[in-house]
Amino acid sequence: MRTSVDNEAPTAERYRAFAEVEARGMSKTYDAWALGVAGDPATIALIDELPPAKRQPNLVFSAARFNGAEPAPYDAFKNWLREHWPPVRHTAETHATQTNEAGRCALHVPALAEIDGPLALLEVGASAGLCLYPDRYGYRYAGRERLDPADGASRVILDCETRETRGTAPVPVPTHLPDVVWRAGIDLNPLDVTNPDDLAWLDALIWPEHDDRRERLRAAASIVAADPPHLVAGDLNERLAALAAEAPGDATLVVFHTAVIAYLDEPARAGFVETVRTLPGHWLSVEGRSIVPGIRVRDDVPNDSTDFVLALDGVQRAWAQPHGRALTWVPNP
Ligand SMILES: C[S@@+](CC[C@H](N)C(=O)[O-])C[C@H]1O[C@@H](n2cnc3c(N)ncnc32)[C@H](O)[C@@H]1O
Repeated sequence: MRTSVDNEAPTAERYRAFAEVEARGMSKTYDAWALGVAGDPATIALIDELPPAKRQPNLVFSAARFNGAEPAPYDAFKNWLREHWPPVRHTAETHATQTNEAGRCALHVPALAEIDGPLALLEVGASAGLCLYPDRYGYRYAGRERLDPADGASRVILDCETRETRGTAPVPVPTHLPDVVWRAGIDLNPLDVTNPDDLAWLDALIWPEHDDRRERLRAAASIVAADPPHLVAGDLNERLAALAAEAPGDATLVVFHTAVIAYLDEPARAGFVETVRTLPGHWLSVEGRSIVPGIRVRDDVPNDSTDFVLALDGVQRAWAQPHGRALTWVPNP
């Protein structure tokens, strides 16, 4: 069985791999659309009008959804795409996959609780910055009391399964949320939740069946819009040191990132790790296995093949479901 989608592969192969590796079990619609495209030379000819980097199924399907494509069987989608190809192509050419998932804060909160506050949060690859507000959301970790901001129940509730079986450690769910006094982010293209087009794009990036995530996006966006973060446009390696220097000296700096480092080539990944290790404070990384150089992966602890590696200061502390739905804490080696 294939385990990853090869971006250099012919379009039919990319779409078949996307169906089998990424969409299966996650989205019936995208599974069917991607398999349909893989066997449909006329639709492939349209998609191949895009540069190779823009032919990715997630981008093309999100661009279609942004322009109004509804979940439907492949034949209906194929006909819709043919009729609406010029605006879909334009959206794919001018946008990128920048999914911003507030649910990932459920992964960060137990690790942040280990750090003495108050905290200055700096997120690299922040998209619209929804993950910069862990202190403003509510949490339901399975089997634990609900956790809410000090000033009352949040309208965003993040459910997170705690996988505690043989070979794992108990998830150290805290009793209070972090005290965040500064929040800033870097992104190649920061999105603005107060801009209706940006919000519509973030919505379109959520897969069709994931209505809970769509609702969460709207609720989190309203929290962020009331107190927008300081987001800097640019490459994370070029901007990190200067932005970190802006953090208040009486707070503990935490540089963090989720689902970002895979976008960098090998030298940029190594350069980022080198820089982040020289900064004061702490470094929280939540990325696919073997994406971040120098982090030893704990395959001795039960995990799902799609789980991310959550590491604090370069040491793996947990396995994490990529959208924040579950955590498996790893015992000390
Ligand atoms: C998949 S999104 C994840 C967003 C957010 N971290 C989250 O977990 O919801 C990846 C983000 O990283 C950004 N990105 C990719 N490469 C980057 C780079 N070299 N410098 C800054 N941002 C980058 C993209 O623009 C995108 O917004």
